[in-house]
Order: sequence, then structure tokens, then C-alpha cells
Amino acid sequence: MRPADLWRHSSFRLALGVTLLVLTTLILAGAIGYGLMRERLAARQDARVTEIFNAIAETSLLDDRIDLIEAVTTRIKASPDRSTAYLLTDGKGEVLAGNIKNVTLPPGWSTLPAAGLGISTGYFYRVFSGSAGRYRLAVGLTDADQEELQTIVLGAFGWAALVAGLATVAAGAILAARVQNRLSRAEAAVALLAHGDLSARLPVSGKGDDLDRISSAINVSLVRLEGYVEAMRQVSADIAHDLRTPLNRLRIKIENAATRRADGLSIEDDLVEAIAESDRINETFSALLRIAQIETGARRSQFTAVDLAALMRTMAEIYADVAADGGHTLYLDVTGSAFVDGDRELLTQTLANLIENSIRHCTPGTQITCAVRGTAERVIASVSDTGPGIPADEREKVLRRLYRLEKSRSTEGTGLGLALVKAVADLHNVDLVLADAGPGLRIDLTFQRSVRA
Ligand SMILES: Nc1ncnc2c1ncn2[C@@H]1O[C@H](COP(=O)(O)OP(=O)(O)OP(=O)(O)O)[C@@H](O)[C@H]1O
Ligand SMILES: [Mg+2]
Repeated sequence: MRPADLWRHSSFRLALGVTLLVLTTLILAGAIGYGLMRERLAARQDARVTEIFNAIAETSLLDDRIDLIEAVTTRIKASPDRSTAYLLTDGKGEVLAGNIKNVTLPPGWSTLPAAGLGISTGYFYRVFSGSAGRYRLAVGLTDADQEELQTIVLGAFGWAALVAGLATVAAGAILAARVQNRLSRAEAAVALLAHGDLSARLPVSGKGDDLDRISSAINVSLVRLEGYVEAMRQVSADIAHDLRTPLNRLRIKIENAATRRADGLSIEDDLVEAIAESDRINETFSALLRIAQIETGARRSQFTAVDLAALMRTMAEIYADVAADGGHTLYLDVTGSAFVDGDRELLTQTLANLIENSIRHCTPGTQITCAVRGTAERVIASVSDTGPGIPADEREKVLRRLYRLEKSRSTEGTGLGLALVKAVADLHNVDLVLADAGPGLRIDLTFQRSVRA
């Protein structure tokens, strides 16, 4: 990664922000600590000056000039580097003892540069000047200690700031490089996805961090999306394949009509059949679109509490005569009410499709039973018959669009009835089971009982 790229990384900018914060805090803490220490040292320096001054001044109480000079001289000898300055003058301003030049100092405290006292160091002196009996005495101390402390403290904080700054910048750069590495791999995966390779997945490091969690969630969606697209592709291929038969039939009918017309024969019947065939194709398309629309899940927002028991009673009533016409007997096994959350129109269509199938695909003399049973949490709607049933290995397939059992090819229908039932079941999160009714077929739809009713 180029240094210029680093700046574009939020993690690096964050690290720099933290560096600035750390440095500001460090400098502030250093300045406060340094100020406090300096204050303490200055107070100690003043106390030391006062102590020396008083000790010498005490000697003057005996009014012995020689002793006083001796006291100052002894102390001067003890400070050969002139870190302590002394000046003892008499009433006329003549120097009696001292290690600095004779300057007139104001009484009390003053802070003077070393040069002002005739000393060649670059320090400052804290000086107290006052009277010692009949004489004037000035005692001063350098601030060398404070200067040294300032150098140490500033040095220490300077180094600390430098190390902390470098460490956070380095940490930021490493972090940015790591994130960039993972993002680059994610970018590569997204590029593959954008080019239609739905098998590409975002990288997951296994650390379980936030990036991992987002990547895993996206990957789960991608698996689903890949499944949907594959299913869609399969469905489109099946539909295209299955629609070729009716379209071919339509073409043959039109061709027949053309031939008959050329022979001077009536083509009225051919045209009626062609119209019926195109109507069937139209219906198939409408049913396919309807299933696709159900699969979008948009209708879920219109769900209301529907009494499945009442709905089953109504459907059994409607189909009783049709069943009787086909030589079947329709039984109803429903008591009370059983509410579920759903789309009334779609549930009506579902029950109708199941009952119609039993009527259409069973030989006369079949018993058809419409039942609704309930438990504390569930409601099970079943339609069963004593007809030929569906072989176990075909039960999954008949739920597909346009799939019909070989023996049903001659009966009327498009093979979309159960596909719609499946779409409605999925929309309602309903468990759809095709079982052997021994003999015959039983289809169970297991709903969650509605909490609204
Ligand atoms: N009760 C049943 N008994 C035996 N076979 C059945 C029964 N119900 C459905 N089938 C088989 O399953 C196939 C698919 O049923 P589906 O309802 O999807 O289509 P269809 O009834 O043939 O046509 P339509 O689209 O008009 O409903 C049927 O063609 C039939 O072979
Ligand atoms: Mg059907």
C-alpha cells in the first residue's frame, strides 16, 4: 500500500486521531506537572535563601563586625562555583565580603540574571536583600536545578510523545493494511458477483469480528440468492420446454385450417379449436404469473385472521354437487372454528385446487374427505381421497410448475394447481405434506394458530 493510499483509510485516520489525542493529553499533563514542580522548587529555593540569610543575620545581633565578615567568608568558600551569591556591605556601600560584584539591590526579593551580578553563567539568581544589624546583606541562589529539571522533563516528554506518536502511526498503518487486505479480497468477490459468478463469496477470517459477521450474513444471502437464481433458471427452462407442446398444437391446428381452406373445406371447427388452445396458453401464462407474484411475498402484508374451518365448510358446500356429478362422495370433518393468519383469497384458491384435484384425478366412486383439526398451537387442513394416489417418488415433483403424472396427461389441466398450493403454503410458512391415504392421497397443510383472533 502506498503512503498516499494510507490517508484514504478510515482506520489509519482514526489511528492518527488517537495519536493527536494522546499527544495533546501528554503535552497537557506534562505542562501541568512541570508547572507544579517548578512552583515547588521555587518555593524551596526561596526558603533556602531565607534560611541562609537568617543564619548570617543572627551573627550581626552580637554587633561583631569581624564575626559577621567571617560568617559570610566561610560560606563563600563553601560555594566555589558561586551557585550561592553573597554580598555584605557597610552603611556607606563599601563591600565587606562577597562573591559578586557590588550592585545596589532593592530591599526584599528580586530575580536577576547572573551577568547582572558579575557571574558568567547563563542562570538566573533569586536574591533576598535586607539589613543585618548596621550592615546590608544580600543572599542569592541560582535556578540551575530548575533549569536542569526543565531540560529533563522536556526531554522525557519529547521522547514519550515521539515514541507514542510513532507507535500509534505504525499501529494505524498495520491496521489499515490488514483491513485493506480483507477489503481487497471482498472487492474481488464483489467484482466476480457483478460479472454474474454467483458462487463467489466474501472472505471470512474466522476471527468472528464485525467484518466477519457482515461477510457471513452477506454470504448466507448469496447462498439463498444463488439458489433462487438457479431455481428460476430451472423454472424458465421447464416453462419454455412445456409450453412448446401447446404452441405446437396451436400451429398444427392453424396449418390444418390452411390446408382445409386450400381444399375448399370449412375451417370453422379448426378455428374454434385454435381459439380454445390459445385461451389455454393464456390461462397457463396467467397462472404462472400469479404463482410468481405470490412468491414475491408481497401479499404477506395483507394477512388477516381467517377461519379455516368456516372456509373449508364453504368449499365443501360449493364442490358437493360437482363431486356428486363425478360419482364421488364428499365428506366434511370440521367442527367449530380455527383461525389462522393468511390471505383469504389465496387460501380459498388452495382448498379449491386440492378438492378439484381429488375430483379430477380419481375414478368415480371415490370418497373425498375435507377435514380441519386443531391443537393448542396448530391448525391442520387436510383433503384426502381414496383414489389412485401419487407414488412417493413423484410427490415432490408434482409440486413443480407444469408437472403432471404420465397418466394424467389426457385429463384436462395445466399442472399448475399444486405449484400454486406450494407457493401459497410457502407464503404462509405452512408445512405442506403429501402422504399416502392407503389407498389414495392425503394432503395436509399445517398452520400456526392465529394470535389475532
Ligand atoms: N388427488 C390426486 N390423486 C392423484 N393424482 C393427483 C391428485 N392430485 C394431483 N395429482 C397428480 O398431480 C399432478 C399435478 O397436479 P396439479 O394440480 O398441479 O395439476 P393438474 O391438476 O394436472 O392441472 P391444474 O393446473 O388444472 O390443477 C396431476 O396432473 C396429477 O397427475
Ligand atoms: Mg390440479
